[in-house]
Amino acid sequence: MYNIVMNYHITTFGCQMNVHESEKLAGILERQGFLPCENIEDADIIVFNTCAIREGAQDRAVGNIGALKGLKKKFPNKIIAVCGCMTQQSQVADRLQRTFPFIDIIFGTKNFDKFEEFIKKVQIERENNKKIRILEIEQEDKIVEDLPIVRSSGKNFWVNIIYGCNNFCSYCIVPYVRGRERSREREAILSEIEEILKNNREKIKITLLGQNVNSYGKDRYQDYGFANLLEDICKLEGDFELGFMTSHPKDITDDVIHQIATQPKIVKELHLPVQSGSNKILKAMNRKYTVESYLEKVEKLRALVPNIRLTTDIIVGFPGETEEDFKQTCNLVERVGYSGIFGFMFSPREGTVAAKMENQIPLEIKNKRVNILLNLEKEIQKKLA
Ligand code: 5AD
Ligand code: SF4
Repeated sequence: MYNIVMNYHITTFGCQMNVHESEKLAGILERQGFLPCENIEDADIIVFNTCAIREGAQDRAVGNIGALKGLKKKFPNKIIAVCGCMTQQSQVADRLQRTFPFIDIIFGTKNFDKFEEFIKKVQIERENNKKIRILEIEQEDKIVEDLPIVRSSGKNFWVNIIYGCNNFCSYCIVPYVRGRERSREREAILSEIEEILKNNREKIKITLLGQNVNSYGKDRYQDYGFANLLEDICKLEGDFELGFMTSHPKDITDDVIHQIATQPKIVKELHLPVQSGSNKILKAMNRKYTVESYLEKVEKLRALVPNIRLTTDIIVGFPGETEEDFKQTCNLVERVGYSGIFGFMFSPREGTVAAKMENQIPLEIKNKRVNILLNLEKEIQKKLA
């Protein structure tokens, strides 16, 4: 008797959260004996972990999936699975299933734990010469612990601390596809990090992940929050740097700033997405801070952590954004002197408040503004260098 090696290939779209979740998908697949392979054509199981944050990300995933039609026709035994933020939108999942009859499994962001079961179901039906197609999107918010993880980012180790988002920024699809905030138990986080440190004696970087890390603990503890967690992690023995993302400016507290300033292990860089420099637009975005209160936090950070590197996300062309609003964004960018800017053109997402707003901005204007912003970033980099 001899074993046939089965290979898997995962394509990941989107943010660090997805990159890390693909490490969990890999863990689930390797637990079943699958081995990774470089080329998608060689894989017996092909997975797409998708993103929905902007239309472009969604289109790229759809394009990549569509390109597999021929391969699947030639090799019908391959299993094709699609999951992540795109499929968590049920109308999109339905559309995918109709458009691409060759997809075998569609699941969302909340039922990774069932991936193994889905694969087994497809395999059993195949053995019986039947074809089944699975579409299962979990709506209930939950935390799944103890999934195996195949860490694949070298010296970078990602650790989830909180899932979901309660903020409902008016442009953002995340609260719809990731559900409400739920913090992991601090013990689970600490023991995951201890385990990483035990297995890696040379210097590593640990990055805590959450849509809004500053909300950590609010849903679980009365008097234990993100600053406490940072403090406890820094007490762990080992040679590591600690980073985290993403921070909502309204929620970053003095306690957290104090931790950044005083803990040598915490990296002196912070991603603090401002999104816009116009109070009118910030209000329409439902960001719940003003330019002034944002700048106050920046000043506090700079006073306590003088060498801090700040980075940001900016959306241009939000509905109703005038030249004046955009100028205010440019002014803010210059004033803060960010070390890095991620500039995005507003992309209307089905089901969000901003998608239905009047005064949508034409693509040419969004394009022009994003280019101005990126040139401005280059100028700032030259000055900082
Ligand atoms: N259009 C454009 N950019 C968006 N972002 C989130 N939703 C949208 C959207 N609908 C950006 C924000 C966020 C980053 C992860 O993506 O700037 O901080
Ligand atoms: Fe989206 Fe706002 Fe939540 Fe960030 S804080 S994930 S931008 S809703």
